Order: sequence, then structure tokens, then C-alpha cells
Amino acid sequence: MENFLTYWDTTAEKIENILEEKLPGVQVMPELIHEAMRYSTLGGGKRLRGMLVMAACEAVGGDVKQTDGLAAAVEMVHAYSLIHDDLPCMDDDDLRRGKPSNHRVYGDAMAVLAGDALLTLAFEILAQMPEDYGICPSVAIKVIAELSTGAGSQGMVGGQVIDISSEGKKLTPQTLDYIHKHKTGALIKAALRGGALIGGASGKELELLTSYGESLGMAFQITDDILDEIGHADQLGKAIGADRDKGKQTYPRLYGLEKSIELAEACVAECLDALKGFTCKANILRYLATFIIQRDH
Ligand code: IPE
Ligand code: IPE
Ligand code: MG
Ligand code: MG
Ligand code: MG
Repeated sequence: MENFLTYWDTTAEKIENILEEKLPGVQVMPELIHEAMRYSTLGGGKRLRGMLVMAACEAVGGDVKQTDGLAAAVEMVHAYSLIHDDLPCMDDDDLRRGKPSNHRVYGDAMAVLAGDALLTLAFEILAQMPEDYGICPSVAIKVIAELSTGAGSQGMVGGQVIDISSEGKKLTPQTLDYIHKHKTGALIKAALRGGALIGGASGKELELLTSYGESLGMAFQITDDILDEIGHADQLGKAIGADRDKGKQTYPRLYGLEKSIELAEACVAECLDALKGFTCKANILRYLATFIIQRDH
């Protein structure tokens, strides 16, 4: 586990450096948007999704160096989703990654635009994968399709739609699962599938990593819900009790804390089960699943 945490730090630093290089500099016109994009993308975040891209590639025996572009692109899409998620018209949160949320610094309009620009930059980077990383164009197209689906109205955005329109309502377990699978699970799944495709995964490997991703996404969001109840704002870098304040249905509110922890553990068991046939090259994914429900931020 100690080695794994060192690996996590090293990988997060590597992803930070790639993002630093891919994002336009603050001196590039129009300066303000580039400053806003960099503010919310750099210098924070666990880099879980970028790491999943790399770990999935490694699990299928691929060349991890080829995944730099996708890892950055997925983190940019994630950063955009957080900027928009925090807006007053969405979750209305003032704190993100331990600092004022994007709109609190740059205003609502610039926050919307910074999110838009991060989303489009992500796809520009993916389109350049054949040239920049020697990825076969047909593979690059598949990866682009994965991220589009994962981020779009039948993926992350779809989950956000139901999340927002369900505020103040009592939800069925099915609807709550829909929200979690989409708002959080879809991007996590896309990261894994994209990394696996770059690594040359077989159909079977892709299928198993998809199940891993679905269970991991669920474990991750259940834990996010739990941390909103029992976490510490200074560790989390975001406000706690925010879900309750907004009348959001969450796992702890629907099932209670203890049962939610059990359900998250069951998801982790499913993750490990999906990886049974993989070699030790999938160990990062194994550690990750175990760690994800024990985190404090
Ligand atoms: C927060 O994601 C948003 C959710 C999907 C729950 P993370 O907890 O991965 O946020 P960062 O990237 O580490 O800040
Ligand atoms: C956010 O879910 C999911 C996306 C940003 C797509 P939450 O609203 O629960 O995330 P936090 O708790 O604000 O990080
Ligand atoms: Mg939200
Ligand atoms: Mg939120
Ligand atoms: Mg949350």
C-alpha cells in the first residue's frame, strides 16, 4: 500500500506536468480565460481519472507513454465538470480543491466559458493523439467516441441533469443509481476504456475493465456522498453537508451510513472480481479499488 501511495503521488505529478504543458499560458490572449482554465485544472485534485487511463493501459500490457494525451484530456473534462457543478445555478459551492471555486474568482460568465474551453481543448488533444503519441487513427477515433459518450447527455451530463432536477425530491434507489452511474461513473468508465483501447485491449479485457469501471464509479460516488456527511472540509477541500443543504438524495440519506459503507465495500469486491483473470500488471487497479473507499478526500 505504501508503494501504491508513492505511485499515486508520482503519477499525479506526472499528470500535473502534462496538463501544465497542454494548457495555454496565462500570457496567451485572451489572458483571462487561460488564467481561469489553469486556476481550476492545475495544482489540485487527486488525478484519479488520469491515473485510471494509465493504469488500464498498463493492465492490458500497453505502452503507458502513449496515454499522456488522454490522461490530460480526461482531467480537463473532469475539471470543466467541477467548474460548472459549483456554479450558483448548479450546486452553488464556494470552495473547491481547498480554494474559492472558479466563479467566485472569475465570475459566472468566465467560469462557464472556462469550462467550455476545457471541454473543447480536451478533444483537440485527442484529435492530435496519432501525431503526438503515434496512436493508430482508428484507435484514436474509438477513444474520442468513448470520451464523447462518457461526457455527454447519456453520460456525465445526463447524470447531472437528473441530479439537478431531483433536488428536494425523494428518489427511488433506481433513480439514485442512475445519477451516480452517470454523473460520476460514466467518466471513470470512459477513462478506463480509453486507456485500455490505447493499450491494445482484447474484447474480453475491455469488457472486464468496463465492469471494473462501473463498480469503481459507484464505490467512488457512494464514498463522495459519505464524505459529504462525515468528512472534514479542510481535508476534502470542499464544503461538507452541501448535499443535505441542497436537498440532494444520497446513499447515506437513502440507506443510512452503515449500509452505505457496506454497499461501497460490495462494489469494491466486484471490482476485484472483474480483475481476477489479469496479471500483476493490474495491481494498480486492484490497490486503487481498495483505497477508493478508505480515502478522506
Ligand atoms: C469530485 O471528484 C466530483 C465527483 C465526481 C464526486 P474528485 O473527488 O475526483 O475530485 P478531485 O479531482 O480529486 O478534486
Ligand atoms: C459531481 O457530483 C459530479 C460532477 C462534477 C460531474 P457532486 O456534486 O457530488 O460532486 P462534489 O461533491 O461537488 O465534488
Ligand atoms: Mg453536483
Ligand atoms: Mg457538487
Ligand atoms: Mg458530492
